[in-house]
Amino acid sequence: MSRARLGILISGRGSNMAALVAAAADPAYPADAALVLANRDDAAGLQHAAARGVPTAVVASKPFGKDREAFERALDARLRQSSVDLVCLAGFMRLLTPWFVGQWRDRLINIHPSILPAFKGLDTHARALADGVRWHGCTVHYVRAEMDAGPIIAQAVVPVHPDDTEQQLADRVLAAEHRIYPMAVRLVAEGRAPVIGERVALHPSVSVQETTLTNPQEA
Ligand code: GRF
Repeated sequence: MSRARLGILISGRGSNMAALVAAAADPAYPADAALVLANRDDAAGLQHAAARGVPTAVVASKPFGKDREAFERALDARLRQSSVDLVCLAGFMRLLTPWFVGQWRDRLINIHPSILPAFKGLDTHARALADGVRWHGCTVHYVRAEMDAGPIIAQAVVPVHPDDTEQQLADRVLAAEHRIYPMAVRLVAEGRAPVIGERVALHPSVSVQETTLTNPQEA
């Protein structure tokens, strides 16, 4: 089976992108990092990707101003130029329009630092602490036009410790993100996480442990 060609979209640090690039370095992994694309040229992750031999590109969003769709048409063209099969959002700080989401329907996934549908949007760790939840985590999901919504592929939970700072909690969740994103991309690339009726219908071969990581740091 040919390997899925990943287009990984970043805006900054790119640690999730790095986790995907590391996973794809294994010839047995079902996907290749075909392109790392940033919407700003100072995205730190670009250098990491280039140092590992992954093609990189910048489609700057700024010059497009408020015309989101024009920016996305440029983005879309660049992804197609690299024959991308699956688009992975990895800290890409732009809301995508229904047009782009429609172009890539069920071939566009995101990682979000909360157990969706709780804590959509920004500042998830601070909000989790403020609400006093006992468990927090992250979700990999197919993207829909509504923010942080779409069929859920995999989730990981981590405990919230009573004395946690926002940074400590963020670090614990991030470690889980780096495990669960490559795992979820594997399932999608292998065709084992199809969307049926707006839910992911996992293939019977998928074990519970693959898509519901519990407390990975302390496992
Ligand atoms: C991650 O927490 C991810 O879940 C969120 O943005 C952050 C990006 O971090 N969407 P990085 O750039 O992958 O290090």
